[in-house]
Amino acid sequence: MTAPWWKGAVVYQVYPRSFCDSDGDGVGDIPGIASKLDYLKALGPDAVWLSPIHPSPNKDFGYDVSDYNEVATEMGGMAAFDALLAGMRERGIRLILDEVLAHTSERHEWFAESLKGEEGRKTDWFVWADAKDDGGPPNNWLSVFGGPAWSYHPARRKYYFHKFLKSQPKLNWREPNARAAALEVLRHWLRKGVDGFRLDVANSFLHDDKLRDNPPIPPNLRGPHHWGHAPNMQKRIHDSNLPENRKVLDEVRATVEGFEDRFVFGEFSEEPGLIGEYVGQTHGLQSGYTFTFLDDRSYSPAIFAAYYRFLKERPHVWPCVTFSNHDVARTVSRYGGGKHDDALAKSAITLLMSLKGTVLMYQGEELGLGNGAIAQDQLRDPVGELYFPYSKGRDPARTPMPWISAAPNAGFSTGTPWLPVDPHHAQRAADVQALDPDSVLNFTRDIIKERRNIPALITGDIEILEAGEQILAFNRILPEQTVLCVFNLSREPASYALPRQSTVSPFEFGPGGWGFGGPGLTLKPFGAFFGQAG
Ligand code: GLC
Repeated sequence: MTAPWWKGAVVYQVYPRSFCDSDGDGVGDIPGIASKLDYLKALGPDAVWLSPIHPSPNKDFGYDVSDYNEVATEMGGMAAFDALLAGMRERGIRLILDEVLAHTSERHEWFAESLKGEEGRKTDWFVWADAKDDGGPPNNWLSVFGGPAWSYHPARRKYYFHKFLKSQPKLNWREPNARAAALEVLRHWLRKGVDGFRLDVANSFLHDDKLRDNPPIPPNLRGPHHWGHAPNMQKRIHDSNLPENRKVLDEVRATVEGFEDRFVFGEFSEEPGLIGEYVGQTHGLQSGYTFTFLDDRSYSPAIFAAYYRFLKERPHVWPCVTFSNHDVARTVSRYGGGKHDDALAKSAITLLMSLKGTVLMYQGEELGLGNGAIAQDQLRDPVGELYFPYSKGRDPARTPMPWISAAPNAGFSTGTPWLPVDPHHAQRAADVQALDPDSVLNFTRDIIKERRNIPALITGDIEILEAGEQILAFNRILPEQTVLCVFNLSREPASYALPRQSTVSPFEFGPGGWGFGGPGLTLKPFGAFFGQAG
């Protein structure tokens, strides 16, 4: 049996607002993406995941949808979408949409109907609950974006639940008609021919129907992660992350698999331990990602080793592997790199392409971009307001793609970009990197191409090897091929005693920087060794 196309595929995430602006309004759009299809073809991903393109009041920049079946006018509308899909087909690149079905925008007509509270007319399509006697919210659930997860609405004389912004009311997946309507959205796009979906907060479709309080995490068990954000001080077991959530994922999966050859993966933003419940060969979604690597700032072998040891106990899970997206600090910055840290960028790209999973890479990762510089008055992300200047929110990862070094706004837009282009990014624009054989861009293009000839790196299983603090060593294993991968993830030279040295034949992949000497294999800072066993 051949593996499905998405197993071990490389998926490239486009954040449309910041990719390429075709009409000079400062906001990236679909014709802009279409104009870069040859760039994408040369880079070589199997699929492109588009962050939301539907009409949205943009309180959360597309993650608040007001019409699931349409394409936003500012993105170019449906005709532009059809043209993009056709252009991608021509080039053999698949298209994955981002569907945000756990909540809608407050501007969605479903919410407007629900607000009226008329009997039988979407009354319970959202999660409405009475105030406490003192007028306070029904329980202690907290919003990920600050404050209580409930807002009062006088029209219903009730509170409604929103895990994120007040303008993102939670869709009630316990209401059969709401659930059916949400699944119908998926069918709409599957019929249009998209290859699959990334499901936003796929751990959060269901809430506890008794609305029980989330229990506190005892103060003596709290670390910096818990103190860093109020909702993290609760064990989020009642507002989301329910065991029954899996049943919803089963239904989503059945809907998607009703169409041939499609892929659905989830964002599991909390309780990473649940991935074994929510992803499987025969249950849940086909794949998904947690924030284990996305939140990590250490780039230490222990993080990767621990995660794959945890997955070893859950062999039914095919994970997505990802270091970067529109919600977190860019890879190079998070891992402590400077402004132009090519060695770190290349090491991270190589590791991303070597670990077990479907690879999710984020626009700009192939250019080795760090966070974009943003001043307070340039912030757009509501999360940026929350803790500024302690944290700037997510905008530093969302600044525009630099295309042409010498052009205004690095070729992103002829107008005023919605977020500023970082001058350091302009120096690293795609056009200059394309001409430099040592650039991160050419490195990434090569590695994606070479990986196609190493089946164990695509669909192989993974076995983590003991290797000390500085080194990450693992085998990728298929019946016909075993590849030993050894990474020095540090800025100091390191050595590793090769197991069965005589039977491993080295081959070139990634940054190189290894040699034999001392106790065995020596690796330069951020060096990597690959060898075929047997
Ligand atoms: C997900 C998205 C994030 C969004 C949130 C609410 O975490 O990735 O960008 O703000 O859901 O929809």
